[in-house]
Amino acid sequence: MNPDPLDFLLTDLDRVLAEDSKGARVTRLLADYAASGASDWRRFALFEANYYSRNLIRRSDLYELIVLCWGPGQRSPIHDHAHQRCWMGVLDGRVKETIYRVQEGPQASAVQGPAREFATGGVAYIVDDMGWHRIEPTGPGPAVTLHLYSRPIRECQIFDESSGTVQTKRMSYHSIGGKVLSGA
Ligand code: SIN
Repeated sequence: MNPDPLDFLLTDLDRVLAEDSKGARVTRLLADYAASGASDWRRFALFEANYYSRNLIRRSDLYELIVLCWGPGQRSPIHDHAHQRCWMGVLDGRVKETIYRVQEGPQASAVQGPAREFATGGVAYIVDDMGWHRIEPTGPGPAVTLHLYSRPIRECQIFDESSGTVQTKRMSYHSIGGKVLSGA
């Protein structure tokens, strides 16, 4: 049986990230995959009713590759990336990324910065020096995105708008390897 496009992507990511190359090669790999029309990501695209879902494809010491599913109105909190690099490729639909400048401490605040929309095939990149961000779907329907974190992120900081505070959020998965976790 021939390898699927996703198998090629994983093999390339293993190699490129092990060489600790500049991010441009990773961006190109994700853009090529997202724009290729490949459909082998679909078995990982498992939606949740009330919140955007995080579905793990692979986690190694170097990176984690996750499919995120966004129903209409499901958006991420404003969050950082725990000093790791974050790429996002759009597999289906449209999403908006809004950048924020967050001031931590007792008088925490989040000032909204620029926003960009990405359609299928588009790739965004962020590290903490560029700011925090929020992701949300913008099309009439759902969206599916492919996220690469290098290295993997176990927790991040979120800005909670209702309390105006910064909080630590433990990252969790809705599914691993295409199987929904019990209790998820
Ligand atoms: C997440 O991983 O839950 C949020 C999406 C992102 O930071 O790109």
